[in-house]
Amino acid sequence: MKLSQILGASGLAPLVSACLLPGEETGDGSHHLYRRQESGDTGFPIGSGDRFEGGAKFPRGLGTQEPGAQLDSLLSVKEIESAMKGLVNEYGIETFTMPYTTYENATMFGGKVGGRGKCSEAYHVYFNGAIHARERGSPDNLLYFISNLPRNSSSEAFSGASAFSEPETRNIKWVMDYFPKIRWYHDLHSFAGVVLYSWGSDENQARRPGMNFLNSTYDAVRGLIPDDPSAGIVYGEYTPSTDWSENVYAAMRTGNAMDAATGRHYEVQQAAYLYPTSGASDDYSYSRHFAYPGLNLVHEFTVEFGFGDENATCPFYPTAEQYHLNMLETGAGYMEFLMASTEIGLGDEVACSL
Ligand SMILES: *[C@@H]1O[C@H](CO)[C@@H](O)[C@H](O)[C@H]1NC(C)=O
Ligand SMILES: *[C@@H]1O[C@H](CO)[C@@H](O)[C@H](O)[C@H]1NC(C)=O
Ligand SMILES: *[C@@H]1O[C@H](CO)[C@@H](O)[C@H](O)[C@H]1NC(C)=O
Ligand SMILES: *[C@@H]1O[C@H](CO)[C@@H](O)[C@H](O)[C@H]1NC(C)=O
Ligand SMILES: [Zn+2]
Repeated sequence: MKLSQILGASGLAPLVSACLLPGEETGDGSHHLYRRQESGDTGFPIGSGDRFEGGAKFPRGLGTQEPGAQLDSLLSVKEIESAMKGLVNEYGIETFTMPYTTYENATMFGGKVGGRGKCSEAYHVYFNGAIHARERGSPDNLLYFISNLPRNSSSEAFSGASAFSEPETRNIKWVMDYFPKIRWYHDLHSFAGVVLYSWGSDENQARRPGMNFLNSTYDAVRGLIPDDPSAGIVYGEYTPSTDWSENVYAAMRTGNAMDAATGRHYEVQQAAYLYPTSGASDDYSYSRHFAYPGLNLVHEFTVEFGFGDENATCPFYPTAEQYHLNMLETGAGYMEFLMASTEIGLGDEVACSL
């Protein structure tokens, strides 16, 4: 496998934030309604100590452990930081911090894995996670996956974290500006059991380049699914057919690998069919090179891992079993995503000295 440079980042939004049910927050979550239980069942517990001892120990993902291996608990915010320090100490992973702190004053950070050279142009794949507080297990999935990578010298990664709320979105933009050769962006959320590809704003179409988000003629009709033909215009967001087929291919590979990991089924679909969105970071990343032709094309994917815990006080809080299934699925999906993106192309090979 050709070397792919991976960035991973993780927000440190407190895990104790309020649980908004799907539909209560625009732009995220499925539209299924779940009963709020009064039982106080909060699912798999959050770690109370620091199992990585401030970075003296490092995390080992399920991919490098015996089948059936069990983790003790969710990572706490403190443990996310100490796990990252552990990876730094063990593997020499470089980290970076993003400039905008969250509303809760948390700092978002990322790690760089692999890379032919260490200049910022050397990284082509960006894994983002943990930007929504209630989506328990998102930072865990990303960190444990990264922890598997250095053990496999044929894989290289860059990971990073971000969010849809303001500073988080600005941090995503910052990462894409700072690492201008990112070609593939994978944003991890929960929960819906889907792998989504661009666009999220409306149905894709590849025949009419002038019908696109930059064209204000369509501002009133963009985002209607289904369209209202009686209003005169049937709108579809322009995507070149090559991008479209590459996005479908990478998303299918990712979804199939996630299915194969546990037997649970992930639906692969265009993001707009989950629900049309406007101004989300997924569309933003793919839109950049249309709006500013000097910028790199970024293929964007949103994975909503897991299927919800209907017995918990918040359906985003997984049971222990779900937590482990989620991690197996996302780990397989991440690896397949790397292989598919490398096969399709990471963009210009950049030569930069160490
Ligand atoms: C964040 O920090 C600012 C400045 O120190 C402070 O005013 C604010 O109350 C803090 N916010 C939270 C949620 O802790
Ligand atoms: C490393 O990754 C490659 C590609 O996924 C795989 O074929 C190989 O078996 C892995 N090696 C180890 C030691 O895990
Ligand atoms: C915007 O859409 C209108 C209506 O289809 C079209 O006439 C025009 O050429 C488009 N503008 C651009 C810049 O493509
Ligand atoms: C919720 O509880 C019901 C009844 O005990 C059980 O059948 C179901 O599997 C539980 N759901 C999860 C996600 O554990
Ligand atoms: Zn989310």
